Parts: sequence; C-alpha cells; structure tokens
Amino acid sequence: MVQRVATVAFEGVEARPVDVQVQITSGLPAFNLVGLADKAVTEAKERVRAALIASGLALPAKRITVNLAPADRPKEGSHYDLPIALGLMAAIGAVPADALHGFTVVGELALDGQLAPVAGVLPAAIGANARGHGLICPAACGAEAAWASPDMAVLAPSSLIQLVNHFAGRQILSRPEPRIESEGPALPDLADVRGQEAARRALEIAAAGRHNLLLIGPPGAGKSMLAQRLPSILPPLSPSELLEVSMVASVAGTLQGCALTSRRPFRAPHHSASMAAMVGGGIRAKPGEVSLAHNGVLFLDELPEFQPAVLDSLRQPLESGEAVIARANHRVAYPARFQLMAAMNPCRCGRAGEPGFSCRRGPRCAGEYQARLSGPFLDRIDLHLEVPAVAASDLVRRTPSESSASVAARVAQARALQQERFAALGRPDLSTNAQASGPMLEEIASPDEAGTRLLTEAARVMHLSARGYHRVLKVARTLADLNGAESVGRAHLAEALAYRASADRIMAAA
Ligand SMILES: Nc1ncnc2c1ncn2[C@@H]1O[C@H](COP(=O)(O)OP(=O)(O)OP(=O)(O)O)[C@@H](O)[C@H]1O
Ligand SMILES: [Mg+2]
Repeated sequence: MVQRVATVAFEGVEARPVDVQVQITSGLPAFNLVGLADKAVTEAKERVRAALIASGLALPAKRITVNLAPADRPKEGSHYDLPIALGLMAAIGAVPADALHGFTVVGELALDGQLAPVAGVLPAAIGANARGHGLICPAACGAEAAWASPDMAVLAPSSLIQLVNHFAGRQILSRPEPRIESEGPALPDLADVRGQEAARRALEIAAAGRHNLLLIGPPGAGKSMLAQRLPSILPPLSPSELLEVSMVASVAGTLQGCALTSRRPFRAPHHSASMAAMVGGGIRAKPGEVSLAHNGVLFLDELPEFQPAVLDSLRQPLESGEAVIARANHRVAYPARFQLMAAMNPCRCGRAGEPGFSCRRGPRCAGEYQARLSGPFLDRIDLHLEVPAVAASDLVRRTPSESSASVAARVAQARALQQERFAALGRPDLSTNAQASGPMLEEIASPDEAGTRLLTEAARVMHLSARGYHRVLKVARTLADLNGAESVGRAHLAEALAYRASADRIMAAA
C-alpha cells in the first residue's frame, strides 16, 4: 500500500503542492528516493533513518521507495525530511494513517529526532490554507505559520516523539500564537541633519510619492546620513504589504525569530555585490537584495563603484517591480517593487564642481567616474539632486532641525490623498504616484494651461524621453499632493523639472 503525505515545493514565493508517496514492499533492503530531488533532499534519507532510530523506531528490512510527485518539478531544500519520515511512520503503523489527512507537512530533522526550522513556512502555510489543509511544521516556525489564518490547524512539535504523542492523544499540542516583533531600536532621526534644506525637501518628496532619488555631492556632505533617515519618514507597512514582505523574508530564511515586523525593509548592499546577490539566483534561486527590499528601500551608496552590469540588471525590476530568474529547467519570479535611493560623489576625488577647486585631472575625472552609470539606468531615477557641502553657519547653529515625526506626518497626508485618488479611479491596487502608468498620468496629473506651456517648452529644450516626460509628471503630482493642491500647476512642474535638469547635466558629462 502507498502512504501519501502532502508537502510543498517553492516557486518564487508560491508554494506548489507536492505529494510524498511512500511504499514498503518485500525485497532486498533498500531506501530509494526519486522525483527530481536535489542534493539536500536526497540526503534526507540519512537524516530520516537516524531520527527514526533515535525516536525508538526501526525501519523494516524491506524495500522502501519514496516518490516526490509531480516528478518533473524540481525539489529543493531540507523541508522534505519531516513529510518523508511521517509517510514512513504511517506505513509502519507508528502513527495512524488517517491522522495525516488534511495536513501539509514541512520540516527538517536532526539526527536525534528534533525538528529544525526551515525557510518558507509562511508561504507553505498560506498555500496549505488555500487548499483547506492544516500545517505541521517545526516548533520554531509555529508563530510564523499561525499568521496564515486564525482558524487553520497548526501543529508545531519540537520533536518526532511529541508529534507521535499528540496523535496518540497522550500530550495534545496547543496552537502557536502569531507573533509580531517589538519595535526594536529607534530609527535615526532627521533632526540630526544640519542645513541641507534642499536635500531634506527631496527626501520628503521621494517618501511621499515613492520616487527614486539620487544624491550627488562632495564627501562628508551628509548623503549617507540623509539616506539612512528615509525609513524614519516612510509610513508603516499596510497589512497586505506586511504579508508580501514577510513571504519573501520567509523564503529567504531571514525572518528574525519567525516574528513578522511592520517596519519597511531598508537594504544597503555593499558595492562589491554580485549580480546574483542583487537580483537573486545562486544555487537555489534565492531572492536577491531587490526582492528583500520589496515594499521598502534599496540604498546604493557610492553608486558608480557598483559593477556597471549589476546596475544595469536593476533596470528590469525597476520597471516591472519583479525580478525574474531564468534557470536551465525553470523560471522563478520574485516580487521586487522597491524604492531606489542612491548616493555618489561627482568624481573620484569628490570635489568636482566645488567653487575655487580645480582638479588636477580636469573634467575627465568627473566624466570617467560618471560614465560608469548608463543613461537608461539614470533615466529611471525621478529625482536627481546636487548636495553641496554643509555651510559652516549651519553646523554651529544650535537650533535643532525639523524632526522625522513631523515630516512623516506630511508624507502620510500626501500618501492618503494618492490612495483616495487611485481608489476613486477604480485602482485600489496602486498606492503611490510612482506606480501610475502613462495613460493614468494623463488623467491624474494633467497640468493647467501655464503648466502645459512650460512643459512643452521644457520637453523641447531638455530633449525629454517619453519616460522622462512621465516621470516629471509623476513628481509634479506628488508636489501638488504635498501642497494639498487639486491640480498640477506651473510651480509644481518647474520644481519637478529642476530635479530632472541635474540628471541631464550628469548624462552630458558622462
Ligand atoms: N548635514 C549634516 N549635519 C550634521 N552632521 C553631518 C552633516 N553632514 C555630515 N555630517 C557628519 O559627517 C559624517 C559623514 O557624513 P556622511 O557619511 O553622510 O557623508 P557622505 O556625504 O555620505 O560622504 P561620502 O561621499 O564620503 O560617503 C556624518 O556621520 C555626520 O557626523
Ligand atoms: Mg557616504
């Protein structure tokens, strides 16, 4: 007879159903595992055998065959140990065969029969719930699984023995409680930043409309400092965003203590990051930095120091909000809707353009440095801003700057306006101006007459690309929202165009 236990295989953040089939027949003793399993899965045999012996169960000296169906879907990871062990235990009568009906099972086994945490429990629980199943997972992941639904059955034993006792009615396992991480250390505050009014304004606009922002300036101007303060003015994650962020973190195995957190992700990879680290990939097609920054901020400090090919690989996720990793036999897509925040010096010595300073290498220094950034990549950044060195008078001033809390209140107000507008247009899936597409922009951001004249003239003089034109409209719409203005006026467009003009200067220098 064949015992069946339901488990899952991950495709991006989706959990696809997989059937573990266990058959014990007479014949020479053997343990075979088939069904397109990778190395970690085939090693399950040894862990399962040892864990069963440690739990006081011996495998019969017969021919054991385990099949992971469907056989054409690749199976990766260590979470197949527990379903295989339970299939075998049902086959030898150690647990009642019908007890496992209606459960999806994931978990890794230690040699002593304890259950070790695995990645991807949240998507597995959501997938199980959608099929009307409960979930059996390691105790350490119980809190994560409990998020899927308040009324689905979750069994989170810490060892095989505990599970056997539960099924035998000797020691009933209680349902784990969903856990949310306490707020953690306070975020750095904008009140620490002296002067830099223009950069603070750009940061506020970027936060309000979720626009990409590039700061260019000399060393020590406070660019990295400003960027690190962006999360403190962003609104907290909405419940649906929280779930999306946690799904990616769960698959990547980075959920801290299996508790979810409502803070927006802030990822700041080092400039030596490889393409696989950035967009995802590697042996098990893991999500990359762009996906870990989903619904949050990806901060690239010292932008031109990144490999040009790595930067260009961001072009597709920046446009589509998705990172697609193509493998030889399958294709994986992870969500990657992130806000790009970047900082750079104008040249290698960092002082190009400074009044009264002439670089020994002249304009070539800046040209070569900036040429590492491609035009199409820069075209995707809505706000470009040159940040001068902090004025000495600002540094010695005693009065504190405006705090993050009051900026965050204005950002939240502007975001509420955007959400209302998108909901009225029948697009509740959109939440920020940066997400609006071309035709929608014509509707929500068409400028008044004076604005149209300015825009026509600017598009001609600045040779705006179609994308550039739309990005100017998006920023202008956000500026109007920050002002509480109904329609986009000339002043909004003029400011939006100013953020674009410095982009043109960089591209011309490159
Ligand atoms: N506007 C500012 N207000 C207060 N302190 C500042 C300001 N700008 C810089 N500083 C101080 O200088 C330090 C360095 O700033 P930061 O690292 O942000 O510079 P940067 O512009 O990123 O320089 P680099 O181009 O070298 O990376 C900060 O840790 C802070 O102590
Ligand atoms: Mg810096």
